[in-house]
Amino acid sequence: MLTVLNHPLITHKLTVMRSINTGTKDFRENLDEVAGLMAYEISRDLPLSKVRIETPMQITESYELAKSVVLIPILRAGLGMVDGILDLIPTAKVGHVGLYRNEETLEPQQYYAKFPPNLADSVVMVLDPMLATGGSASAAITILKEKGAKTIKLVCLVGVPEGVARIEKDHPDVDIVLAALDEKLNEIGYIVPGLGDAGDRIFGTK
Ligand code: PRP
Ligand code: URA
Repeated sequence: MLTVLNHPLITHKLTVMRSINTGTKDFRENLDEVAGLMAYEISRDLPLSKVRIETPMQITESYELAKSVVLIPILRAGLGMVDGILDLIPTAKVGHVGLYRNEETLEPQQYYAKFPPNLADSVVMVLDPMLATGGSASAAITILKEKGAKTIKLVCLVGVPEGVARIEKDHPDVDIVLAALDEKLNEIGYIVPGLGDAGDRIFGTK
């Protein structure tokens, strides 16, 4: 299922990020803030379990998160979303998948993977600012499923219909959450209007 978050603060910060005049520091800070706002929305349906606790007044029943949350940033650009989400879910564990797109074929190449244990019992959130062809996100989700992950959400800032269709075809069980659904991919596989190369803008590598 696709959810496009519609919130004025997210839209405003995304506008700042899209602008060619926004430098590395402001791009990074806005990404951090948007990820935090998205965390609030994507955590709405986290399951709760009943616990018995003692308040200063009496023993009572209350609720706590029932499952571990695992964040999986797709390197590099997904790293820029981790801290903003950890601010809201500080108990989350963090795994990493290293993928880069071959610039000619646009096929994802894997170079790293390291995950916390018990993925099968966790809510796994795959993080990447950009959902372009969907190849990278699809490959990351396949790797996670091979490691046992069952409940997976894909959380991206900007996506296009092509990328959404790819995930819906390859992984119909995965919820997709976007901050914006853009128009299309251009002839070299970049999202338009988009925000350019997310990794380069986060890390100042161009
Ligand atoms: C970007 C982006 C996604 C991928 C999206 O990463 O962060 O991971 O491209 O494209 P896709 O949907 O067509 O696979 P990139 O390969 O540029 O690597 P980087 O994060 O290291 O810059
Ligand atoms: N990766 C990016 O960083 N930007 C795009 O527009 C597409 C893929």
